[in-house]
Amino acid sequence: MHELTAALTENQQNTYHQIIRSVAIPEAAFEDFCSWSEDCYTRNCIFENEKFELILLCWEKDQITPIHDHGGEECWVKVINGTLKETLYKQESSGLTQLNANTSEKGTISYMIDFMGYHKLENISGHRAMSLHLYAKPIKKCNVFDDSKKTFSEKTLSFDTGSSAY
Ligand code: SIN
Repeated sequence: MHELTAALTENQQNTYHQIIRSVAIPEAAFEDFCSWSEDCYTRNCIFENEKFELILLCWEKDQITPIHDHGGEECWVKVINGTLKETLYKQESSGLTQLNANTSEKGTISYMIDFMGYHKLENISGHRAMSLHLYAKPIKKCNVFDDSKKTFSEKTLSFDTGSSAY
């Protein structure tokens, strides 16, 4: 894990995809960062500085994010174990339209940035899952879709475990 955080700290953001793709971290190395909740997937901060944050998301079976954007930042997601489904949306004058959906297995990396639209992620493994999220720069707020009001509202993001101080 130290190798990954050091490489991200020392290199430019345009190399982040390559770094997260090439690094091979054993699944057991994530155990120290895990926390689990039946209420919602958990956000566990592994490392953050002013350039990026590295977060482990721990998903119970069927847990799902709301539809959201990424606060103008870049986002890479690497599945550590389990299977995640990503559904993409675009805002149009008629409202939010679903684009496509992709399934990611262990080792798969997906990328998201606001001009690609909005997305939601869901653990469809049938059991627990873990995914590693790299945000550059760190995302402190994002816009979350309220399905009942059919509008977005700003949400301040927090960690279930780990530091939020630089
Ligand atoms: C989150 O960080 O809470 C949502 C997952 C994501 O969009 O990467």
